[in-house]
Amino acid sequence: MSHHSGPELEATARALVAAGKGILAADESSGTIKKRFDSIQTESTEDNRRSYREMLFTTPGCEEFISGVILFDETIRQKGSDGIPLPQVLEKKGIIPGIKVDKGVQKLPFSDDEKITEGLDGLRARLVEYRSLGARFAKWRAVIEVTDSKPSDACLQTNADALARYAALCVDEGLVPIVEPEILMDGTHTIERSFAATERTLHFVFGSLFEQRVPLEQILLKPNMVLSGYSCPQQASVQQVAEQTIRCFRRVVPAAVPGIVFLSGGQSDEAATAHLDAMNRIGGLPWEISFSYGRALQAPALKAWGGRPDRLEAGQRAFYHRAKLNGAARHGRYDPAMEKAA
Ligand code: 13P
Repeated sequence: MSHHSGPELEATARALVAAGKGILAADESSGTIKKRFDSIQTESTEDNRRSYREMLFTTPGCEEFISGVILFDETIRQKGSDGIPLPQVLEKKGIIPGIKVDKGVQKLPFSDDEKITEGLDGLRARLVEYRSLGARFAKWRAVIEVTDSKPSDACLQTNADALARYAALCVDEGLVPIVEPEILMDGTHTIERSFAATERTLHFVFGSLFEQRVPLEQILLKPNMVLSGYSCPQQASVQQVAEQTIRCFRRVVPAAVPGIVFLSGGQSDEAATAHLDAMNRIGGLPWEISFSYGRALQAPALKAWGGRPDRLEAGQRAFYHRAKLNGAARHGRYDPAMEKAA
């Protein structure tokens, strides 16, 4: 038995996928946030990272559409400009703070350059500390590549086992684990190949979660959508993506899981919203269909801000607009015409 309460974790998981809301992934590692700042010719200093993230978190009204935010280790320890720790800034708005706890990917031994996610050593102690800093949920990302010969069973099994170890530790320490097996959509593969790889990956993931006795009511799944590879000449339509994604998940995601929170994975912000909307229009599903977007929520805000202190409000307007449209997509009420109302 976990020494934390199951009903509390289940309530947190359900709050993260409340009607009309989803998660902002703002947990870019130091290397990734530097790349994002490079794109707007802004230096990635600790203070710029804080200003940027504080801008997003304090956006007036964003809590109408944002249920939780995934933070990076640096951010959960930072204070806003008024001296209040950023996790408390979120809590005051009714937004649940979360934390990325994996330590990134390394080459999987004896593989054709496949990846394994690290970070299990010492994880229990880190979870205890993050919980004391305000985190109520966590994220761990496995990265899976698709080619004619990948992913291998060895890659899927080792990553699934690590995800389940992480998830079991989170529940035991009172954090809702977001279980993220991300199949990269880079490549020329068809949507059929993407479907098969996603189905096989999730089969391994839920097998390992079962073996390690993880209570599925207390987790969220963060997967890729079933898309055509980005370099595939034949690109599936929005409707096909929605239908194939839901068809795939019906096969392999137990109904006990409260919600599926998709990553955007390099889709344009408008495509990510349109896909989410089309899935929510299908209806009659056992899980909430929501978002945990990084790039697809942040891209317009990052550009509008441009690293300039006098553009914070413009950044917030752009973030609010994107969050609102994804909120509409949660109800299946998004219309591309809404893009112009910015
Ligand atoms: P993207 O939505 O940009 O893929 O980021 C989500 C995320 O947290 C990936 O781990």
